[in-house]
Amino acid sequence: MHHDSADTDTDKRLAAEAAAGEVVDGMLVGLGTGSTAAHAIRAIGRLKLHIDAVATSNASADLARSLGIRVRDFADVATVDLTIDGADEIDAQFRAIKGAGGAMLREKVVACASRRMIVIADGSKRVEAIGAAKLPVEVLPFAAGFVASRIAGLVRSATWRGDYRTDNGHRVLDCDVGAYRDWECLSDAIGRIPGVVGHGLFLTQVDAAYIAEGGVVTRTERAGLARPSSSR
Ligand code: 5RP
Repeated sequence: MHHDSADTDTDKRLAAEAAAGEVVDGMLVGLGTGSTAAHAIRAIGRLKLHIDAVATSNASADLARSLGIRVRDFADVATVDLTIDGADEIDAQFRAIKGAGGAMLREKVVACASRRMIVIADGSKRVEAIGAAKLPVEVLPFAAGFVASRIAGLVRSATWRGDYRTDNGHRVLDCDVGAYRDWECLSDAIGRIPGVVGHGLFLTQVDAAYIAEGGVVTRTERAGLARPSSSR
């Protein structure tokens, strides 16, 4: 298990608490997954608001319920008001890689259902260019061999995340994408392989970022770049 330095964890918490300030009574809130998102869930719990939530993982649902937050089944939901989630990397164009925690498929569904999606992170996640982090691809176990062979033609290398299974019962291929730069093309190419059920490239879903470094939180908004509505 990875342990953050106290400073990194403080930055995660400060970014999370700042973003939680956007939550108001009556909202349906999407809860992310991971250590930064867990700070947001705890901060939202402390606010004692009258909200409903949907969760991007069983772990986040359990944490939220333990704090008295009402968690609804996402299967009954079409639109979420505000989602707050972490990321492994995010660049200045709000492109992100997610899924080190294995929740990228549900995270992307909930992000796409959300009117507003905020990434919260410590400063180490802010990068000049995404791609140093492993890109996780969620794979139907039935199609493991086929998908691995197709992915091999698209990325530098790919490694199964051991026996790990996602909350959906699927396997994860962690891909080293190398110096890839046409992210839309890669996202489409991976997404079109039958047996791939999701991946951690978030190119259009992030609306804003709260990033904390050295105890200072900076909020940035996707400037003027209206999201293509078809991607939502
Ligand atoms: C899980 C994710 C997480 O948001 C991402 O891995 C960041 O995690 P952490 O906040 O623990 O650094 O995408 O699927």
